[in-house]
Amino acid sequence: MTFHIITFGCQMNVADSDWLARMLRDRGMRWAEPAQADIIVLNTCSVREKPELKVRSTLGRILQETGKNRSVLVAVAGCVAQQLGNTLFSFSPQVRLVAGTDAMGQIPDALELLLANPGRTLCLTSFSTRYDERPKPREAHCGPVAYVNIMQGCDNFCTYCIVPFTRGRQKSRSSAAILDECRLLLEQGAREICLLGQNVNAYGLDKTSDGTSFASLLRQVSALDPDMRLRYVTPHPKDMSHEDVALFAELPNLCPRLHLPMQAGADHVLRRMNRRYTAGDFLSLVQALKKARPDLALSTDLIVGFPGETEEEFLQTMDMVRKCGFMSSFSFCYSDRPGTRASGYADKIPAPVQLDRLQRLQALQEELSSAWLAERVGAATTVLIEGQSPRQDDTTDLCRWQGRDPYGALVHVDLAKDADHTGQFVDVTITHAFKHSLQGTAG
Ligand code: SAH
Ligand code: SF4
Ligand code: F3S
Repeated sequence: MTFHIITFGCQMNVADSDWLARMLRDRGMRWAEPAQADIIVLNTCSVREKPELKVRSTLGRILQETGKNRSVLVAVAGCVAQQLGNTLFSFSPQVRLVAGTDAMGQIPDALELLLANPGRTLCLTSFSTRYDERPKPREAHCGPVAYVNIMQGCDNFCTYCIVPFTRGRQKSRSSAAILDECRLLLEQGAREICLLGQNVNAYGLDKTSDGTSFASLLRQVSALDPDMRLRYVTPHPKDMSHEDVALFAELPNLCPRLHLPMQAGADHVLRRMNRRYTAGDFLSLVQALKKARPDLALSTDLIVGFPGETEEEFLQTMDMVRKCGFMSSFSFCYSDRPGTRASGYADKIPAPVQLDRLQRLQALQEELSSAWLAERVGAATTVLIEGQSPRQDDTTDLCRWQGRDPYGALVHVDLAKDADHTGQFVDVTITHAFKHSLQGTAG
């Protein structure tokens, strides 16, 4: 049996697909290109753009690539599966499994059941009321950077966002299970752990939690290995406690980088987004963070053209971006998501206005990102090597490797050809800044 997994969406989906691949390998299946695969899993995202169309066109492409072979078993998993449920069976005759966000752990068994019963289909979209532990794959996680889920779902209901509908209510995973998984990953060679969730610093604040706070969890994970790197994503500004901020001063292995979604810079827009902080609150938080860790690098998510956003309000977002000096950002035009509160707001912004704002914002970010990278030239840093660079320089007898510095910036460095440097921490001096990455020399 062979399988292929196609993944859209956030880091949680990437981590889910990675888990699924290892589970399927445990059951004796091999990875294959779509045209040769017996099973194809599509792990989907509904957060932006036209997710249904994307799923429909991907299913169409699979049908073509597999020569319309109906014995190919296609499973649709993740957020679009949760949202559309059994209507997905009508998207393609090959779809026989629909598995929502809380059903990921059941996919391996479900696939085996369907393989044994060629006439059957299965739709698993109920939410569970607690964090379901998944079976542990035998195959070791490979790669120096490991992602560990600490929660599922989100209770915030930002008015533009579909995640609370597709991932359900917030459910914290037990701290014992998180720590066990981290220990195992470190034994297996992980050098960096990133804790994952839609609102990580609300960890422990739901009724399924074991009473451990996010700060306490972070301390415990950090203590597992002083030499590893620790990161987390995504925090919510309103839930960053004083203790969470202080940990940037307290924990040496907590990396000096934080992805802190701001979304907008005008109070009126933030209120209508239900973000529950003001621009002033956000700036105070940034100041407190920089006080705890002066070299902290910040990145963010931004939405332009939210319903009712005026030019003046957009300029306030630009101003905040400048004040916070983000090293990078993801920015998006607001788009309606079915069932969300903002989709019912009357004062939608025309697409050309949204695009114009997006371009101006992205031009500003390019400037800030270039300045941030340029300032790194000459600095001594440590790079955790993740693998060989896709582009090699054939004129040297060295090999070009790439990895990330503590700020999460991509760094290329030339090292000896004869060894595998993946997973090594290499001391580097930054020599050059490219548009989106850095070049360094070892030593
Ligand atoms: N839990 C995270 C990630 C949510 S989704 C958080 O709270 O930040 C990732 C990003 O997609 C969001 O931060 C937001 O900037 C963007 N996004 C979500 N819904 C959107 C929508 N309807 N239109 C445009 N961008 C959206
Ligand atoms: Fe969506 Fe807001 Fe939850 Fe993030 S915090 S997942 S933007 S509802
Ligand atoms: Fe997308 Fe679902 Fe993640 S909507 S961003 S895959 S939580």
